[in-house]
Parts: sequence; structure tokens; C-alpha cells
Amino acid sequence: MKSTSRKVVVVGTGFVGTSIAYSMINQGLINELVLIDVNRDKAEGEALDLLDGMSWGQENIKVWAGEYSECKDADIVVITAGINQKPGQTRLELIDVNAEIMASVTKQVMASGFDGVLVIASNPVDVLTYQAWRVSGLSANRVVGTGTTLDTTRLRKEVAAKLAIDPRNIHGYIIGEHGDSEVAVWSHTTIGGQPIVELIKQKDRLTVADLAVLSERVKMPPMKSSIENKQLFTG
Ligand SMILES: NC(=O)c1ccc[n+]([C@@H]2O[C@H](COP(=O)([O-])OP(=O)(O)OC[C@H]3O[C@@H](n4cnc5c(N)ncnc54)[C@H](O)[C@@H]3O)[C@@H](O)[C@H]2O)c1
Repeated sequence: MKSTSRKVVVVGTGFVGTSIAYSMINQGLINELVLIDVNRDKAEGEALDLLDGMSWGQENIKVWAGEYSECKDADIVVITAGINQKPGQTRLELIDVNAEIMASVTKQVMASGFDGVLVIASNPVDVLTYQAWRVSGLSANRVVGTGTTLDTTRLRKEVAAKLAIDPRNIHGYIIGEHGDSEVAVWSHTTIGGQPIVELIKQKDRLTVADLAVLSERVKMPPMKSSIENKQLFTG
């Protein structure tokens, strides 16, 4: 049976898992948060750190390092377990190790009697989401991958930095794989309501060549932050 509170389990308490956990707590989206990691000490440490910051929040959220059996009454299980990319490595190159981890984690989640929604972030995310769906036996609408969400926010950030405007005024999407074959849908990208292609026709602040550079920066983000981006997000 589902818990009456909003309960989420995060499997994998590395960079991605802890960012997701922090973000959910900060936004008051949940009442209970369980952290699971093959490295139990890491999960314990992250749970304690999150609890330490809780007194500043408005919500009373319970956070603890737990077991797979606690997925039973969770609404959502987020899976971020796995290895991440080294410089120069593609996401697809992670598949051998991460596919095994995904299968093992999904089986343990399902063995608890879990009956909620699975959210997959581990890479290569599209392939692993398919695998989690196959292994879990859940219906397709209950196994969701993060897909190109990150790439889409990067696209908006890159266009915003190029034109020196607020990224919230940019509407556009990256579609396809969260990986090297992804595609920027420039034909449906607008800036303050104006199609980006119109801006190019005006030969004002953007060229077709710029779009190619921007797409590439979304696919292969620079390894260092820049002052241009910083200025946009302050104030
Ligand atoms: N979908 C996206 O947009 C996106 C963005 C960034 C990273 N990622 C992917 O997310 C994954 C995690 O990235 P990260 O930067 O947090 O890595 P990380 O190394 O910081 O954390 C991974 C965690 O998974 C744990 N883990 C490994 N095997 C496990 C298992 N069998 N069971 C439980 N926990 C296990 C590790 O102990 C570690 O704490 C990677 O595959 C990375 O490529 C996805």
C-alpha cells in the first residue's frame, strides 16, 4: 500500500542523486526521503548533511539512509546509481557497467512490492530507461527517463548567453537522444515570442553558423564556467 505522505527514494547518492534530493527538499515537494547507495556510508553522510540544513526550511521532512524494502510504499523511486563520464568518453560507453547496475537496482526496487513511478537519470539514460521498464514490468507511463531535459536547459542558457538576454525568454528544445545524436529544434525556437530564424534573417545578432556552434556547446559543454553566464543569472 502507498504511504499517505509524499515519499521518494533516491538510489545513488553521488553528485546527481544528492542534487535531486536537495532540490526536492528545498522546494518542499516531499514529506519522506530515503537515500540508498551501494556505499552505505555515503548515503548516511548525505542524509545527515541534508538533515542538518533542514532547520532553515519551512517543511518538516524526514530523511534517512534506508533499504530497498522501503521502496514498497514510495510514490517515486529515482535511480541515479552508476558510473559517470570521464573526459572524452561518450554516454554510450558507460553502458556495459551501468546496464548491469540498472538491472540489479530495478530488480531490488521491484522485489519490495513497489507500485509507483520510476525516474531514471543514469546514463546512457534513454537505453537504461528502456531497460528499467523491461526489467520492472511496470507500464511504460510509469518509467520516465530524464531524457533531454538537461540538454534543453543548456540550449536555453547558451542562446541566452549569446544574445545577453534572460534564458526565461527563450523557448526551444533539444530532442532525440540525451547524447551525441541529439538535435536542436531551431525551427521551433523563439526568443521573446520571435522565431530565432527571423532573427537570423534580419542579420542582426545571430547567424546560421552561430546555431551550429551553440548546438555543439550543448552537446559538449565547456569544462569551465564563464563570466558571461554568471552575469546573466545575477540580479
Ligand atoms: N540524465 C542526466 O541528465 C544526467 C546528468 C548528469 C549525470 N547523469 C548520470 O547519472 C549517473 C550518476 O552520476 P553522478 O555524477 O551522480 O555519479 P557519482 O559517481 O557522483 O554517483 C554515483 C553513485 O552511484 C552509486 N552506485 C554505484 N553503483 C551502485 C549500485 N549498484 N547500487 C546503488 N548505488 C550505486 C555510487 O556509490 C555513487 O555514490 C551517471 O550515470 C551519469 O552519467 C545523468
